[in-house]
Amino acid sequence: MLLLFMTLILTYPMLQLASASTGNIAKPGCQTRCGNLTVAYPFGIGVGSGCSIDKSLDLTCNTTYDPSKLFIGSGNIEIHKSSYSELWVTNFVAQRWSLPFAFSQRNKFTVIGCDDFALITGSNGGDFSSGCLGLCRRSNDVPGGYCSGIGCCQTSIPKGLKTYNVTLTTLSNHTGVVSFNPCGFAFLGEEDSFQFRGVQDLTNASEFYSRVKSMVPTVLEWVIESNRSCREANECKGNSSCSDTDIGGYRCSCNSGYVGNPYLDPGCQGM
Ligand SMILES: *[C@@H]1O[C@H](CO)[C@@H](O)[C@H](O)[C@H]1NC(C)=O
Ligand SMILES: *[C@@H]1O[C@H](CO)[C@@H](O)[C@H](O)[C@H]1NC(C)=O
Ligand SMILES: *[C@@H]1O[C@H](CO)[C@@H](O)[C@H](O)[C@H]1NC(C)=O
Ligand SMILES: *[C@@H]1O[C@H](CO)[C@@H](O)[C@H](O)[C@H]1NC(C)=O
Ligand SMILES: *[C@@H]1O[C@H](CO)[C@@H](O)[C@H](O)[C@H]1NC(C)=O
Ligand SMILES: *[C@@H]1O[C@H](CO)[C@@H](O)[C@H](O)[C@H]1NC(C)=O
Ligand SMILES: *[C@@H]1O[C@H](CO)[C@@H](O)[C@H](O)[C@H]1NC(C)=O
Repeated sequence: MLLLFMTLILTYPMLQLASASTGNIAKPGCQTRCGNLTVAYPFGIGVGSGCSIDKSLDLTCNTTYDPSKLFIGSGNIEIHKSSYSELWVTNFVAQRWSLPFAFSQRNKFTVIGCDDFALITGSNGGDFSSGCLGLCRRSNDVPGGYCSGIGCCQTSIPKGLKTYNVTLTTLSNHTGVVSFNPCGFAFLGEEDSFQFRGVQDLTNASEFYSRVKSMVPTVLEWVIESNRSCREANECKGNSSCSDTDIGGYRCSCNSGYVGNPYLDPGCQGM
């Protein structure tokens, strides 16, 4: 596990779930490179190519860009890096989102504004709803550096959140604050990548939007076939183990002291 972790760090930003020197990275005949990233099975490049384990893990490599960029499905959600269980993707500051993945609890629902209330509703099997209120009266009151409720509010999301809707409401049309805060924002993004900069984040909406898009990824948890457990699937290869996840579905990992791709023959091999 430690070695796998180091491999990921050393090869960052490669989307690599297996050590390159051992066994198969992808299914035979499948593309593994996309720009600076290496794509390992159970993911596969090409929608409908049969290169992934399940069509929800099909990716598109768009060679129009230099270096080429990797996207989920045939859509426009760009993947930047991965770990054993998560994908870091571009934040879309979207009002509504639904994917074949769950949103990681590394994300926080964040509201930026001085007169704004945002409601997030969603589904994680049950119904979830939460809200956050960003308030302030004077620009001098807004502290930068942390999200305190003054101009910036953050709240957690439940485990296994798969879809969400955001409703952003202004309480009194930014009356009295419009000079330094013309509008509010809400997004779901990685807590550790976002630092509130105070008034400067409230003043220029287009600049703030670009900053979130380029600097604050959304983290997704991926699993295989979310309706099958380890016992039903029995797919992990030699010298690896299967774990059921608490968001449904399963994942394979090499046993301690072994490296390789636990999803493909010949499985994991001793180091
Ligand atoms: C990708 O690789 C190119 C060439 O090796 C390098 O110049 C560039 O900085 C890399 N891009 C990223 C996002 O790592
Ligand atoms: C690649 O990206 C370009 C520019 O965004 C877009 O026009 C094109 O449709 C994309 N190609 C594929 C195969 O997704
Ligand atoms: C999101 O809103 C749409 C349209 O109002 C609705 O159909 C959908 O059920 C909502 N989804 C969630 C998870 O609340
Ligand atoms: C906000 O503006 C809208 C449209 O300009 C108006 O209908 C509404 O009454 C205003 N609300 C408040 C609380 O000022
Ligand atoms: C907001 O920031 C953008 C990009 O930095 C800049 O071009 C624009 O003029 C700014 N708008 C205002 C109203 O300051
Ligand atoms: C999981 O879903 C697939 C496709 O919808 C279906 O064929 C399969 O029977 C389901 N498996 C279980 C264990 O529910
Ligand atoms: C487990 O790893 C050992 C040592 O590399 C290898 O000889 C063996 O074939 C592997 N077992 C399976 C079931 O793949």
